[in-house]
Amino acid sequence: MNTTLLSSPLQGFTDFRFRNAFHKYFGGIDTFYSPYIKLNGKLVVKGSYERDILPENNSTLQVIPQIITNDAEEFLFVAKYVKQMGYNELNWNLGCPYPMVAKSGMGSGLICNTERIREILDRAHSETDIIVSMKMRMGYENPSEILDVFPILEQFPIKNIAIHARIGKQLYKGGVDLDSFQRCLDVSKHKLYYNGDITSVEAFRSLQERFPSIDHFMIGRGLIADPFLPSMIKNNTTEYPENRFEIFEEFHETIYREYDAYLQGPTPIKMKMLGFWEYFSESFSNPQKTLKKIKKAGNSKHYEEAVKEIFKSEK
Ligand SMILES: Cc1cc2nc3c(=O)[nH]c(=O)nc-3n(C[C@H](O)[C@H](O)[C@H](O)COP(=O)(O)O)c2cc1C
Repeated sequence: MNTTLLSSPLQGFTDFRFRNAFHKYFGGIDTFYSPYIKLNGKLVVKGSYERDILPENNSTLQVIPQIITNDAEEFLFVAKYVKQMGYNELNWNLGCPYPMVAKSGMGSGLICNTERIREILDRAHSETDIIVSMKMRMGYENPSEILDVFPILEQFPIKNIAIHARIGKQLYKGGVDLDSFQRCLDVSKHKLYYNGDITSVEAFRSLQERFPSIDHFMIGRGLIADPFLPSMIKNNTTEYPENRFEIFEEFHETIYREYDAYLQGPTPIKMKMLGFWEYFSESFSNPQKTLKKIKKAGNSKHYEEAVKEIFKSEK
């Protein structure tokens, strides 16, 4: 069976700069979901969201835009907006766990509101010709919430439902709940994608063995912590290329230069790269020591020296 690998969106990480560099240096990802578009009470898409999905910024990539909303007007507006840009599909986020989002009835906080889900899907399908796909957790309070949503979803030609096998309340803590994911597979008539904690080739293989009917897997954090993971999964190998850290270093250089040119002032670039290194460090022999070196670098000169040293020690 052919496996399709999708990059799970990570707000603040997997924007078009990251996606393009990732695709160039590592590959292995078939389709990238862009981090969600969120409107702020007005029917206007912010410039940063627009830049992220502009076709010219994604010319060699397969990208699916995503929205987070609990409002039908917003959904219709963004559906028409992305359609105009040339996209046929809009992914709907019912997974975000952050209390501010969930408490306002969005993301995983919308899963329990079946009536609102029905209304939005109804209008999306009667007033636009966008293809809708979903990305969900299994609930906010408990993993049975999703079971009440499936009968609503069945009334619509949803392309697929990607399920992060956790509940909102968990945030990112605890493990994935594979028994509840199995129950979703037993009950749903839609095509399901698996998402959650694919952090190694071994973890992927064991999920593939447990869910043989799944042929679409989404990888989020694992792909930043180990950018070779998707291509190793695709090539069915646990072996890294010999020049692993040379490739990694060139990739780092590319995104660092691009973010440095785009972000104003020393603090934003420092915070941006530190965010990446919280994941990247896991690829190195001593993750804690690696991260400490990055944290200690007070200015860009020291940062660049620290990075050089980190890569040198692995070669
Ligand atoms: C910092 C961060 C930002 C995220 N942003 C998004 C987002 O914009 N849209 C979305 O659907 N999920 C988002 N997620 C969730 C991930 O896409 C993914 O579903 C989750 O991390 C589980 O998969 P993983 O274990 O492979 O990372 C985010 C997660 C993190 C940690």
